[in-house]
Amino acid sequence: MRLDKFLSDTTAHSRKELKSFIRRGSVTVDGETVRVPEFQVAENSTVTLNGRVEHYRKFVYLMMNKPAGFISATEDGNALVVTELLPEEYRHFDVFPAGRLDKDTEGLLILTNDGDFGHRITSPRKEVWKRYLVQVDLPMSEADAAAFENGMDLGDFIAAPGRLLLTADPQEVYVEIREGKFHQVKRMCARCGKNVLYLKRCAIGGLLLDETLVPGACRELTDAEKELILQGSLPELA
Ligand code: URA
Repeated sequence: MRLDKFLSDTTAHSRKELKSFIRRGSVTVDGETVRVPEFQVAENSTVTLNGRVEHYRKFVYLMMNKPAGFISATEDGNALVVTELLPEEYRHFDVFPAGRLDKDTEGLLILTNDGDFGHRITSPRKEVWKRYLVQVDLPMSEADAAAFENGMDLGDFIAAPGRLLLTADPQEVYVEIREGKFHQVKRMCARCGKNVLYLKRCAIGGLLLDETLVPGACRELTDAEKELILQGSLPELA
């Protein structure tokens, strides 16, 4: 690939800035100064910019603690979108949210530019379970839990069997599902006669939300965390 493309994939600089850095002699390839933006480099070439080694990578994988008030999209005419929360260093990667959380939903959201990885998280056929903390307006019961376990006819589709786990507070439950249809948790709760007052995604597959991330913050996933997601099953509830 071209040297300026390599650097635009690894840094936050514009292509124009990079061409100027290269022409000024601020870039080396395998130890030699290269002043030609079109110079061909390999992904494993050692490239430095202003003395700093730039490691090539095509994909990034981020975990965000999504705050309420943001849409899970990369752009929207008027509303705020989650990609506006990204630190500068990730903006040029063109990441997108792997799955949608409603505007008022908080919690674990994965952003990546790896389409295949994103698809494996969202495709119902891959059976990656998601866990939500849900607060509702009326007490939930064992009968509601049974309704979740049986699967539910929501009119336009039949929700596959999920799990509703009761807590000491009857108006606070965990919902676990392996699909992600529009408003699915809210619609399943509504089918049981309850309105959702608060919704937060706590886990995707084996990956729990890193609670040290303040709402709106994100960090990169480790390789082990990516594996945990794809393994699909949720960790035991603490
Ligand atoms: N289910 C919902 O109803 N809303 C979400 O944001 C996620 C799952």
